[in-house]
Amino acid sequence: MTVAGTATARACANIALVKYWGKRDAARNLPAAGSLSLTLGALVTETTVRFDPALGADELILDGGVARPADVQRTSAFLDLIRAEAKIATRAHVTSKNEFPTASGLASSASGFAALAVAATTAAGLAVSPRELSMLARRGSGSAARSIYGGFVRMHAGHEADGSDAFAEPIVSRLGDRIRMVIAVVGGGAPKTHGSRDAMEHTAATSPFYRAWIDQVPHDLAAAEGALAAADLAQLGTIAEANALAMHASAIAARPAVIYWQPTTLALLATVRDMRAKGLAAWATMDAGPHVKVLTTVTDADAVARTLRSVEGVTATVSEPGGPAQVIAERAS
Ligand code: PMV
Repeated sequence: MTVAGTATARACANIALVKYWGKRDAARNLPAAGSLSLTLGALVTETTVRFDPALGADELILDGGVARPADVQRTSAFLDLIRAEAKIATRAHVTSKNEFPTASGLASSASGFAALAVAATTAAGLAVSPRELSMLARRGSGSAARSIYGGFVRMHAGHEADGSDAFAEPIVSRLGDRIRMVIAVVGGGAPKTHGSRDAMEHTAATSPFYRAWIDQVPHDLAAAEGALAAADLAQLGTIAEANALAMHASAIAARPAVIYWQPTTLALLATVRDMRAKGLAAWATMDAGPHVKVLTTVTDADAVARTLRSVEGVTATVSEPGGPAQVIAERAS
């Protein structure tokens, strides 16, 4: 069968407060532990998928240019999952654009695969629930499962071998109205040195601290969920900062080491501690790159952003929580 549908979707990136770092099944991209994140309104990807019976191969335009072969291949493999589900063979033309504050190597795979999952299933004429979309997005990138939803999101590791219980779901918390995240980009956004997919597998295979990291995650998840239920920002921030440091400690102990931090990263961490000592709400988290994201309140966000900008080589943007991934235009075949 062929289809010729077109759909455009938008999805926001998310930043984990309890990190995903390690898989229980690489082929199905199943996480070894759960995770918990905040979807961010300032980091948006918009993606259009057009199935076109005239195409002999999938095409990908990324941020206005023809994508690298590795990115086309990853997109094509992801589209194959949707083609199998829709029982079609039609190739697609995909255009994807990141509306990020700077081209910085921020969490674009999360928003990218969430937007692609929503746009491609819609263009293929499939009716899928948000939970199914989260499991589909997970196949593209583990963190993308969480970008299907807005606000605070919990990803379940699940136990089933087929991954049928490894999905994301939103967590409602009164904290959502009170918080902001400040994104401090280091060095204008140098491309990251180790992709997260390979780096987490290397950590699992070689780091003497990996087991300790995985054992810690359920405790941090329970404490973070407790903090969300009690709307206790200080508890949530404290867990998030400690969890990020534990994730990086496991990666730093891999052999050879995976070190994402630059001197400016450490300067930002010291600045965050200093702001806290002065009574501002500020807790740091870092992902597979040198940038620092700071959880804060609506009230303190501007002061936090100003202080982070005083560190040389840093640009900082305040983000609100973001909404769920959604279709913004569609045309059936
Ligand atoms: O979704 P991936 O494969 O890009 O991995 C995400 C890894 C971290 O960003 C470091 C942590 C997380 O939970 O988002």
